[in-house]
Amino acid sequence: MIEYIRIDKNQIQRIKPLWSNLINYLYDKSKNFKNEFQNKVFENRFESFLNNKEEDCLIVVVVDTDRETDIGYIAAHIFEDSGEIDSLYVNEEIQSKGIGKTLMDKALDFFSSKGIKNQFLYVSEGNEEVINFYVKFGFVIRKYYLVRK
Ligand SMILES: CC(C)(COP(=O)(O)OP(=O)(O)OC[C@H]1O[C@@H](n2cnc3c(N)ncnc32)[C@H](O)[C@@H]1OP(=O)(O)O)[C@@H](O)C(=O)NCCC(=O)NCCS
Repeated sequence: MIEYIRIDKNQIQRIKPLWSNLINYLYDKSKNFKNEFQNKVFENRFESFLNNKEEDCLIVVVVDTDRETDIGYIAAHIFEDSGEIDSLYVNEEIQSKGIGKTLMDKALDFFSSKGIKNQFLYVSEGNEEVINFYVKFGFVIRKYYLVRK
């Protein structure tokens, strides 16, 4: 059975193994910035996230209760009048079964429940195919961010 569990921000270390899977995935996808994914440190990535108030942070973990294993997560937070989807990952073998959609619905409900209308997220270079997933939830491309190498 699949369960969705909201965890407190002080339990964020629980998503570290899945976040590492995401980073490996983004490393494989990236053409120009592989080196950045090699040096990513979980604690640095979520440092500013953890500075937010508990009630402004949402972390939902997906658990396969039969195997007692975490198989996905979403992390989102509210800062001032904006809501950001920080990180989303579903293990490869369980993708395309509606879990990502359920996680997104939970994050978007979280924003709505707080009256947050300005909602955004970033997609890494190389992972553009995921944009069509977010389009299903009403997101559209706002700008492109270019870096001189
Ligand atoms: C993106 C991701 C979270 C989606 O989760 P999922 O459980 O596979 O998605 P779902 O099964 O809930 O799919 C929901 C809908 O989005 C579509 N979809 C899923 N992944 C998609 C993709 N990469 N591109 C386009 N559409 C996609 C599905 O076809 C489905 O459409 P439908 O409702 O019309 O049938 C998951 O594929 C994943 O972890 N990918 C790798 C990591 C990643 O890219 N994370 C996002 C970083 S910004």
